[in-house]
Amino acid sequence: MRILAIESSCDETAAAVVENGRTVLSNVIASQVKEHQLYGGVVPEIASRRHAEAISGVVQKALADADMTLDDVDAVAVTYAPGLIGALLVGVNYAKSLAYAKGLPLIPVHHLRGHVAANYLSHPELEPPFLCLVVSGGHTHLVRVNDYTDFTVLGKTRDDAAGEALDKAARAMGLPYPGGLHLDKMAQTGDPAAFRFPVPRVDGAPLDFSFSGLKTSVINQLHNAAQKGETLKTEDLGASFLQAVVRILCDHTKAAALETGCKTVVLAGGVSANSVLRREMKALCDKQRWQLCLPDLPLCGDNAAMIGAQAYYEYLAGRRAALSLNAYATMPIEQSI
Ligand code: KG4
Ligand code: ZN
Repeated sequence: MRILAIESSCDETAAAVVENGRTVLSNVIASQVKEHQLYGGVVPEIASRRHAEAISGVVQKALADADMTLDDVDAVAVTYAPGLIGALLVGVNYAKSLAYAKGLPLIPVHHLRGHVAANYLSHPELEPPFLCLVVSGGHTHLVRVNDYTDFTVLGKTRDDAAGEALDKAARAMGLPYPGGLHLDKMAQTGDPAAFRFPVPRVDGAPLDFSFSGLKTSVINQLHNAAQKGETLKTEDLGASFLQAVVRILCDHTKAAALETGCKTVVLAGGVSANSVLRREMKALCDKQRWQLCLPDLPLCGDNAAMIGAQAYYEYLAGRRAALSLNAYATMPIEQSI
């Protein structure tokens, strides 16, 4: 079964053709990063406009790269939640028109389920159940993936997502958007033990996360130094902050794996591209003799191939959207509309 998938939840306009949930026939991404860099973050209105301009060309290229036309497609899939509402609506409306024009089934896909499914493309042998740490710009979730379309959230952030905290701290250090990526590069030359950070805990919910205190601590240290006319070595501050964030992510993942008995650990989302997180999670899993699955680097960030992968399993589970499908800025990963 060949699914044409569309993703437009944030600042990448993406389309892909995926066969049977596991084989990528094409994967096209038009990134808006350069434009949003001017403003230090994603400007929702600009994102929507750029999606509207790019989407036709991106979909056509995805079909051409797969050596196909719309007549060869068996279904259309689209990210309908969560994300920037105006951005999501561009993809949703485009997908609806294609499905209507060609009489094809329309499959609604949750963005975070898509991030999890990126691993089905990178690891053909991977099957649920497994434990997944989903770390993106907007979300930080520890999820037990019971089955392809059945999820139990074990823990999530109470404030900033991990990627959001990295982006905001990086911006305070003068790094361009997306900060997490640039912080990863800069931190490689810094000393991760140079600065100490508190370990935040959420009372009564040991698997939940809180990153805003750490982020504020970075910003305060920068401001305090500036007020005294001193300069901090941002490489060291960045490396120490990143180390603190990764330590929390790994500790919580370990606790969740022990609690659930899951021996397969999976990473997903843009922050799973982080070199320190990948290294530390590998060390943890090796030590515990757990299997670790990491998405290939090009599949960590937003893309439509991951949406096409998840869409296949949503289709098998009987999920179809009517042409009245709407987009939603927020939507729990466990919920099916
Ligand atoms: O999954 P994603 O592409 O978009 C959302 O769904 O949010 O994640 C974007 C996030 C941003 O916060 C970005 O800074 C972060 O992923 N990111 C990284 C790296 N590459 C992207 N964070 C740390 N290290 C990286 N190498
Ligand atoms: Zn994402």
